Amino acid sequence: MSRVVVFDEFGGPDVLQVVEEPVAEPGVGEVRVRIEAFAVNPLDQLARSGASPAPVALPHARLGVEGTGVVDALGPEVDGLQIGDPVILAAIPDAAVRGTYAEFTTVPASRVIARPAGLDVAEAAAVWVAYSTAFGALVEKARIRPADRLLVTAASGSVGRAAMQIANQLGAVPIAVTRHAAERDELLAAGAAAVVAADQEEIVDAVRHHTGGTGADIVLDLVTGPGQQRLVQAARPGGTLVAAGFLDPRPTPFPRGTPLTIFNYASFEHTLDPVVVTRMAAFLDAGVRLGALRPALDTAFTLDDVADAHRRLENGLHGGRKIVVTV
Ligand SMILES: NC(=O)c1ccc[n+]([C@@H]2O[C@H](COP(=O)([O-])OP(=O)(O)OC[C@H]3O[C@@H](n4cnc5c(N)ncnc54)[C@H](OP(=O)(O)O)[C@@H]3O)[C@@H](O)[C@H]2O)c1
Repeated sequence: MSRVVVFDEFGGPDVLQVVEEPVAEPGVGEVRVRIEAFAVNPLDQLARSGASPAPVALPHARLGVEGTGVVDALGPEVDGLQIGDPVILAAIPDAAVRGTYAEFTTVPASRVIARPAGLDVAEAAAVWVAYSTAFGALVEKARIRPADRLLVTAASGSVGRAAMQIANQLGAVPIAVTRHAAERDELLAAGAAAVVAADQEEIVDAVRHHTGGTGADIVLDLVTGPGQQRLVQAARPGGTLVAAGFLDPRPTPFPRGTPLTIFNYASFEHTLDPVVVTRMAAFLDAGVRLGALRPALDTAFTLDDVADAHRRLENGLHGGRKIVVTV
């Protein structure tokens, strides 16, 4: 049997319950993974509360798009994996069925990658969504290069931190945007070359100052909403804007003022593509080995405390660090 977190109705963290269900056998081309830890993602909160953009069928909906564990069983026609291999779940587009909030899940073999040796279990649970999203947005979409000035919003969040580390690994220059000047020192310690605090500075002027008057080459906007217009003005003509988040629930006006290449980015575009996943996994492995890439972790919880983990995320107490649940 597998202990699994499910919910039968939409609502607050208390709708989450731990139940037991039979362990599924892997089908052709599938592997069963014994989950060791999973990370709580903002998407989980949207799914649980009924606000998910993807449909969630009730009752007995599962959760979880991030996690790590070891290969527990192999289905027919699976090559290149052995029972006991430590892996990271690389894409769970159907979390309501195969979610990682469980002792076991069964996925196509193409959706696991080898766990980088330098990460502990909690870090491995927290690493993939943030780093694959930042890598996809910056490397695959924006084609970031050394010396590019990268402006990143919600820089203290998990994707923002990953974006700054990736920019640094590639010799680019991350300029962090935060709403609160109190975050400045932490963002500098997290790798920002400069910090723009929206409660104290005018974003366009500050970015011009930090870029010698030219503006940012690349903007990674994880917030969107009306504030995006100032980011467009802070970019250099001919630069690139990648919109990859939606922390501000207000509508985002069409970007005007500076001619830019604009992408609206969803990481499944790449994490369901085994060729790109191979590049992402190799980059992650190298970055971990070199000490350039490492997720920031918040409090860890256990499966029985999963509702508390959701409350912590919902109350914004994690400060952008990943909340991990050990199984
Ligand atoms: N496109 C994709 O495939 C993809 C993949 C993963 C995540 N995402 C999205 O990317 C965004 C960031 O995800 P994350 O996991 O990094 O989030 P996170 O870790 O929860 O980010 C938290 C940080 O975001 C900032 N923030 C929170 N609410 C804000 C608001 N209303 N306005 C401005 N800033 C706000 C805060 O920083 P300050 O207090 O310092 O301002 C906070 O520390 C989310 O919208 C998420 O859904 C998209």
